[in-house]
Amino acid sequence: MQVELDSGTSLGYDDVGQGQPLVLLHAFPLTRAMWQPQLDGLSQKCRVIAIDSRGFGTSTGPLKNLTIDQMADDVADFLQSEEIREPIVLAGLSMGGYIALRFALRYRDRLAGLVLADTRAEADNAEGRANRDKMIAFAQEHSPADVLEQMLPRLLGAETQSQRPEIVARVRAMAAGATREGIIAALQAMRDRAHMTASLPVLRVPTLVLVGREDLLTPPALAESMARGLPRARLITIPGAGHLATLEQPDLCNRAISEFIEALS
Ligand code: MLT
Repeated sequence: MQVELDSGTSLGYDDVGQGQPLVLLHAFPLTRAMWQPQLDGLSQKCRVIAIDSRGFGTSTGPLKNLTIDQMADDVADFLQSEEIREPIVLAGLSMGGYIALRFALRYRDRLAGLVLADTRAEADNAEGRANRDKMIAFAQEHSPADVLEQMLPRLLGAETQSQRPEIVARVRAMAAGATREGIIAALQAMRDRAHMTASLPVLRVPTLVLVGREDLLTPPALAESMARGLPRARLITIPGAGHLATLEQPDLCNRAISEFIEALS
């Protein structure tokens, strides 16, 4: 499905099931298709909505000087446009988590719960920002598929890469559909995103922190410190998963998310 927002942004999304809305925000450089196991596995229990972030999948809109805050505002505009008035559970993985954290700060009263998967509260440090600039230069000269290949060794856990070729193929297919402009805009937005650690104590919303035990991009130690900083967080470490835990171990992650949502009511 597709919704046109007043900002000139058009967002692609899936919306299945009924009840408590669970809104899902994907990782970079993927699309809402990464949430298919959650759309399939959680829509018997709640209303699952997976959104393509601006510049990815079927979502389009102004990309110049795009910020993580604007991506969070897109989610708020989406909720308004779709007349979703009840508090949502917002789940974001990695880049989706950066957006979810900003949403939580800007729209606190819109949340019943927060799921932060394989993400971090820290901004990029100097080395991280320099690496983003290198990746932007690479993306200017290469295809989105090439960008993915650069990241792939650190996106998925070792076991997934060696023994689950169907997941590797799904990730490749998602990135192949990305645009150069979307990739560069998101890299700039992530490079320039704000530090969130000092804001964690004011986020009193119940939060589930998930992390793949083999996550190399946002390792368990970062998830632990983020969970410690959040007043009402529970941390669950997912075995047999790298950075894309919800895709690599959907049953374990779906159970954790389902129990979290049940405990909210
Ligand atoms: C992601 O998975 O969304 C990205 O790896 C996040 C990042 O590069 O910081």
